Amino acid sequence: MEVLTDIAAVRAFVGPRRRAGERVGFVPTMGFLHDGHLSLMRAARSEAGAGVVIASIFVNPTQFGPNEDFTRYPRDEAGDLAKCRDAGCDAVFLPPVSVMYPEGHRTTIHVDALTGPLCGASRPGHFDGVCTVVAKLFGIVGCDVALFGEKDYQQLAVLRQMTRDLDLPVEVVGHPIVREPDGLAMSSRNVYLSADERAQALTLSRGLAAARAAWATGERHARVLEAAALAVVRTAPLADVDYIEVRDARDLGPVDTAARDVVLALAVRFGRTRLIDNTVLRV
Ligand code: PAF
Repeated sequence: MEVLTDIAAVRAFVGPRRRAGERVGFVPTMGFLHDGHLSLMRAARSEAGAGVVIASIFVNPTQFGPNEDFTRYPRDEAGDLAKCRDAGCDAVFLPPVSVMYPEGHRTTIHVDALTGPLCGASRPGHFDGVCTVVAKLFGIVGCDVALFGEKDYQQLAVLRQMTRDLDLPVEVVGHPIVREPDGLAMSSRNVYLSADERAQALTLSRGLAAARAAWATGERHARVLEAAALAVVRTAPLADVDYIEVRDARDLGPVDTAARDVVLALAVRFGRTRLIDNTVLRV
């Protein structure tokens, strides 16, 4: 597995393979890899048909707000590279900030509307940072297909829209949430949780399950579904709810009564750790 730190090296690695007709699969990450990331790397080959798989590890400063966890975001370069190797990556792009944002960098990509609600409301500018870095990474890697986890449901919707709007020749593929055996959605940020917070964070997946159970009995009122999830999350004394919202699964527009697929998405803080999770409720 090649470890590449500059743009020319990535292009020199990918170019000949593309010209030889290989399909290039790409998994962008911020590192501190868990099974969710590794399942994307494996799926790039086994499901998305990539002959070459490249991952990137870059903690992108532009998607963190001034009071967020950029400086303390967990990092483990050696462990991550070993995991990428085991997951079958052919190369890892590990750029320093100066390569991604050299002196004089002036461009930001903003996707309208989809970035307004949910995480966009509490993390202003976050998706601009995500879109900008992902568009740059697509341009650097020259991938045919890129895989993202569905835990960041809004991120996936925003990136699909960006890719369409900018006519980027990349197929964006979502992959199901990977959970711990007890239901907690895997996240690099889970490492921040104390034992107490970790135990109480199980109310997130249980809250989603309660809403799914209501949906299965025919409940279609968004406020009732939200209340079903909230009632469970509220049993955790440490839970500080940012949002629990039912939104249209395609355009994230507001919903009163679900007539088509919706997503129930939530963001909840436990201490200084903000966790997100979601479930798609299909008609
Ligand atoms: O989902 C993430 O880890 C990041 O937002 C991404 C897509 C790698 C961009 O920095």
